[in-house]
Amino acid sequence: MTEVHLLLIEPDESIATFMRQTLSRVGFHVQVVFSGKEGLINAWRDQPDIIVLELDLPDLDGLEVVRKLRGDQRTSRKIIVGLTSRSQPEDTTAGLEAGLDQYIVKQTDAIDTLLRYLAGEQRVGQLKQKAKGPIPSNHLIAFLSAKGGVGTSSLCLNIASQIARQASNRTVAVLDLVLPIGSLAQITGSKRPIDLVQLTEMSSGELTPEFLRKNLPAPRSWGFYLVPGCDDPHQAVNLPTDRLPPIIQTLQAAFDYLVVDIGRDLSHLAMLVLRQADAIVMILTPDELGISSSLSVRNYLHAEGVPKDRLIFISNRPLATEGMNVDAIQATFGQEFDISIPNMGASFHLANSLHAPLHLRFPEESITFTIDRFSTNLLQNLKRAGDKVR
Ligand SMILES: Nc1ncnc2c1ncn2[C@@H]1O[C@H](COP(=O)(O)OP(=O)(O)OP(=O)(O)O)[C@@H](O)[C@H]1O
Ligand SMILES: [Mg+2]
Repeated sequence: MTEVHLLLIEPDESIATFMRQTLSRVGFHVQVVFSGKEGLINAWRDQPDIIVLELDLPDLDGLEVVRKLRGDQRTSRKIIVGLTSRSQPEDTTAGLEAGLDQYIVKQTDAIDTLLRYLAGEQRVGQLKQKAKGPIPSNHLIAFLSAKGGVGTSSLCLNIASQIARQASNRTVAVLDLVLPIGSLAQITGSKRPIDLVQLTEMSSGELTPEFLRKNLPAPRSWGFYLVPGCDDPHQAVNLPTDRLPPIIQTLQAAFDYLVVDIGRDLSHLAMLVLRQADAIVMILTPDELGISSSLSVRNYLHAEGVPKDRLIFISNRPLATEGMNVDAIQATFGQEFDISIPNMGASFHLANSLHAPLHLRFPEESITFTIDRFSTNLLQNLKRAGDKVR
């Protein structure tokens, strides 16, 4: 294995010395600087694999340093971790928004948390395989729609289940972010030993990748872990949304694929997920309202800087009504859909009420093959995109 180069930007000399010793002992090649300016110069000159920084710096604002690192192509794809004394939940959110991969508060177990993060499955893979060149990292896939009731949750779950089946040596988690009431626990028939609301009540010390891998429900026959969403509007209204970004980043550290049902939402939080997503699957119905509202959302995402090649479109017909013909719709939409799913009558609803993925309940239906093929292509494209950026 080639040596992994870690740059530490830490103004406190005794902390820096302790961290250099600990990190060197486990095999990192560590370089230490004490200010933001030195950090930027070193990072751009030496292009370390990992940058760990305190956000309270003597010369520059740490968040500004993170933004500069993310904005420069020499360091935009590096692993950047904040290890900082700023401990408020809103600090975490600001750090992640600035572009940190992981936010760790300086407390007694901070260095353990850092080591665990760097040794987390996908990081180990990423670092171990450095010697061999390009490798895939963990992936975030978001499901979104412009209208409700178009099949977003059903397709999100069935595609996640196929991903889990096809990438059988990888772990997959599905997160229900639909507010005020999510439907994923209901469709998959999951009990709620733990859900999103409970996760927001945990301290950052308790919420670790190990905890999630051990305690999240893994609904039978679906092949993934689930974070059930809110099932009560009262909870949803009081949900501390600033606690959600750290939960999402811990889920990403814990699982190879994180699939998020965003539903019909373009809130600040939804945009945070969408900006980070490697693929955004948008579900739309092939009728005039479906097309025009999806066009508005697509244009908004483009205007917000979400790269066009991350967006994938699925046309789905949850109702047996006549829509426009496919050519006319695609012409209006200005691009082809990745797949078009016909109306399946009562089958989809039946599979959902039996809490079963389509590939188990209706293995011979054409929709099952369509979803299967779509998932294969999605996995291949994610892998290809991962290879290209490294
Ligand atoms: N192609 C299809 N053929 C038949 N029924 C479908 C199809 N796609 C979805 N459905 C059914 O449509 C209903 C709504 O689906 P689902 O809950 O997945 O949509 P949604 O977009 O997530 O809705 P919500 O806005 O409530 O979150 C479900 O009963 C589902 O079984
Ligand atoms: Mg839904």
